[in-house]
This record gives sequence, C-alpha cells and structure tokens, in this order.
Amino acid sequence: MEYDVKDLSLAADGKNKIEWAGKDMPVLEGIRDELAREGSLKGARIAACLHVTSETANLMIALKGGGAKVALCASNPLSTQDDVAASLVKDYGISVFAIKGEDNDTYYRHINSALDTKPQISMDDGADVVSCLHSERKVLLEGMMGGTEETTTGVIRLKSMEKNKVLGYPIIAVNDALTKHLFDNRYGTGQSTIDGILRATNMLLAGKKFVVVGYGWCGKGVAMRAKGMGASVIVLEVDPLRALEAKMDGFEVMSNVEAAKVGEVFLSVTGNKHVIGEPILANCKDRTVVANSGHFDIEIDLDYLRENSISERVVRPFVTEYLMSDKRRIYVLAQGRLVNLSAAEGHPASVMDMSFANQALSAKHIFEHADKLEKKVYAVPQDIDEHIAEIKLGTMGIEIDKLTPEQEEYLNAWQMGT
Ligand code: ADE
Repeated sequence: MEYDVKDLSLAADGKNKIEWAGKDMPVLEGIRDELAREGSLKGARIAACLHVTSETANLMIALKGGGAKVALCASNPLSTQDDVAASLVKDYGISVFAIKGEDNDTYYRHINSALDTKPQISMDDGADVVSCLHSERKVLLEGMMGGTEETTTGVIRLKSMEKNKVLGYPIIAVNDALTKHLFDNRYGTGQSTIDGILRATNMLLAGKKFVVVGYGWCGKGVAMRAKGMGASVIVLEVDPLRALEAKMDGFEVMSNVEAAKVGEVFLSVTGNKHVIGEPILANCKDRTVVANSGHFDIEIDLDYLRENSISERVVRPFVTEYLMSDKRRIYVLAQGRLVNLSAAEGHPASVMDMSFANQALSAKHIFEHADKLEKKVYAVPQDIDEHIAEIKLGTMGIEIDKLTPEQEEYLNAWQMGT
C-alpha cells in the first residue's frame, strides 16, 4: 500500500483521537454499518482530498468498510493531523498522502499520488482534485463516475466550470445540503474559528472590537460566537441584504476603512481575495490581529504586509508579527490559512457527523446512479438531506410532532381562506 505520512509511530495517539471523534458521530456510524452490511461501495475507487482530521478518518473508515478502495490527501497544507494520518495507514490500512506543514510542491504531489489510484469518485474540499483532473491529469476524466464537494468555495469554482461548459463529470454539492451548511458552516466555523484564535493567541475576547469580514453562514456563526464571548462585533459586508441582516442581528456594520480605526481582531470568511487588504492593513491600530477562516489563503493581502514591513518574525506558534515601516505591529495567524484547522482541530465531530453523512450517502448515490448523472453540479437529493436531519434528531433523543391529517389537508387546500 502506498502512503506518505509524517511518522507511523504517532499512530497510537491518532487511533485514540479517531475513536474519540467517532463517539460523537452517531449518524455516520449508522451509515457505516449500513454500507458495510450492504457492501454498497464494493469495488469503488475513491480519491478524497479533505482536511485530514479525526472526523475525516471516520468517514474514510466508513467508505472502506462499504467496500471502497480509498486514497486520502490533504485539502490544505496546514490542516493535517499527523497522528491521525499515521493511524489511518497503520491501523486501518488506508492510503494517506498528507503531512502537516507540507510545501506547495508536496501538497500537489500528494494530490497526484491519490489520483494515481485511478479513482472513479472524487471527494473534494475546495475542488483541488477536480482542478487537477481538468488540467494535469485529463486522461483520468474518462473513468470518473462523479464527485462530491464539501465547501462553499469549491462549489463556486465548480458552478463556474459548469456554466463555462468545461465540467468533465457530475458533482454533488454537499455544501449546499441544509444539514451541511446550516450547521457545519454556522456552528462549526463559529466555534472552531474562535478556538483557533484563542489557541494561537490566548487573548481575552471579552471587551475586544472583533471585526468579521463576510456575513454568509460562516460569518454569521463567527459573529454570534464572538459576541457570546463578550466581544463587540463589527461586520463588514459588500452585499446590502446581508449587511442589513447583520445590522438587525445586532452587530455594528461599517466600511473597512472605518473598521480599521477601531478593530482589534479581524477575521475573514468571504472566499474572496484581499478582503483584509490595504484599506485595513494601512490604517489599523498597533497590535491588530488578523486571521482567516475562508478556504484559501488569499483573503489577507500578505504581499502588502511583506512589502510594507521592515521585519517579519514568528512570535508564538501560528502567530507571525509584521513590523510595519511606521512601527505598527500586525499579527497574522496561521500564515493566513484556515485558522480553525491550522491552529485548532477544525469543527467538532458532532457537526462533521452530518456533513460526512452527506458525503458518504452522496458517494453511494453516485456509485449507484452514475449512468443517469450528467456533467452538472447537483444538489444532495432532498430525501438524503431530510433523512440525515431525522436521524440526527433521533440520536439527540429528540422526538418531534407530525402534522395531523386535518393540518395536512389545510396546507394543501388553496380554497380555504377567512
Ligand atoms: N472542515 C472543518 N472542520 C473539519 C474537520 N474537523 N474535519 C474535516 N474537515 C473539516
């Protein structure tokens, strides 16, 4: 079996972490048992490019148990948990190509190693596998049955490929399932981002002016949790509807230049380039902390910092200080990469439970229905989404009411008025 991980002797710690996370993933556990019982993925070759965490490990184990041959590489150079990668190889016999802190060349070499297994199904978080398959590894496109995509940024890239008629095989946009983005993006990113900032800096959030750039589901989650820690939250948004929503949710809303004058922590979650750029970096206060939880490391203008600083040094793990020519110090967390997965462990298992239940069932759907799927970006089938919500509620010990026949009839009758 091929693999490239940091150190196999880390496996014992990794196994404990995988089992710990697994206990908080009851929905995925049920699906794992079902896939194994039915052999639903027998013979499927899957290349997964996901954050290599203990939660992802549980997904890989479920897919392998269902009969798939799985190869896993990282979807970000800084998010790999080396002990988990070691355990997946040593204890579970799964090919992993991922090392925390790998350079760009190694990152792409690892994606190519996963693709060397000639996958039929891709599982992406950010669309790097799809992008590689459509550029360097085009010959493999023919064998692709379909793929899944985990994150907003990836779905945007894929929809643009679909629109430009260059998408070479069908994709299921897992991110767009309600049981994914309403929970993972909001509560997962909300909590894990705060966790990453605190682990990196150990700062007190109470009383801080905390600026959230972007008010999508991730931004909403971060703003809500920062407020819960006692920070005064300011939201920056370019979309008028979202800006209005942020205002009515109780946050201050202003322009980036205004926020630069007062903000103490800036956190981006937009999926767009340089949203923490010159207007903020040239005007912010001494000792401002900037971090990113968006998928790529393009949200903070690091070139501006390099070009306008007189020195750069690491002052704590995951904290780089830029001393600007006007003597202000700006602290960048995790080199501008996903702070929640670089400086902390990403979203907690109980929320990844639903995201990865969607991944597993979408992979099964692709394997079973490949002949009917076109080169399009598909939503997760609604029955899968609803099924996951129902099971999750059940695992939380929650029973909900059903509509009475009279209520059903009322909702379906357009004639009834006053
Ligand atoms: N994305 C965000 N958090 C994650 C986690 N814990 N595992 C895998 N992918 C993630």
